[in-house]
Amino acid sequence: TVSAADFVPDTRELRALSRAVRDCRGCGLYENATQAVFGSGPAQARVMVVGEQPGDREDTEGEPFVGPAGRLLDKAFADSGFDREDLYLTNAVKHFKFVPPERGKRRIHQKPSRGEVVACRPWLTAELETVRPELVVLLGATAAQAVYGTSFRITQQRGEVLHLPEELADPDTRAVATVHPSSVLRSRDRDADYDALVADLRSAADAL
Ligand code: URA
Ligand code: SF4
Repeated sequence: TVSAADFVPDTRELRALSRAVRDCRGCGLYENATQAVFGSGPAQARVMVVGEQPGDREDTEGEPFVGPAGRLLDKAFADSGFDREDLYLTNAVKHFKFVPPERGKRRIHQKPSRGEVVACRPWLTAELETVRPELVVLLGATAAQAVYGTSFRITQQRGEVLHLPEELADPDTRAVATVHPSSVLRSRDRDADYDALVADLRSAADAL
């Protein structure tokens, strides 16, 4: 099967990696997306934040978390004691997957398949090996299951300080999983769900 592994260069240099991801054909998602969206932030970041995949805005702009979910996330990080400069933001999957829009309509996000998540994981591994963060914040089930496998349940382990599996990174690297900011935006009880997200992020900040 195809995978990003055939497209990830040997270099551990973020600029070279983000240039190479533009030509990735590791799964079918490159075909309909505007562009690949690689991670963004300082190479010396202490914290890596992993989302699901770029959304509509990110696909157009080429940067992670610049749309509505990103705005909520910025506020949640500010409210939980993180410094923006400590953060490297990325996604489990680098191309936007969407339902083809009806004329004039916004494109609707579609969850990536397990095969697409696994195909894309070599990019995430390369980012982990390059940035070597002390802490990884996993936003939502797709990111958490990219790292821990499909039996991982956010509802059971959110906010706990975990360690990364050693096949992905130095096992001293800590990780905290929580919900995806989009789920807070869609929630009927936004305030409570926002507060719970901030509580998980505070527990992540305390692990630094
Ligand atoms: N949602 C994500 O998971 N990642 C983004 O970059 C934007 C929205
Ligand atoms: Fe490559 Fe990932 Fe894009 Fe698939 S989603 S083409 S594996 S970068």
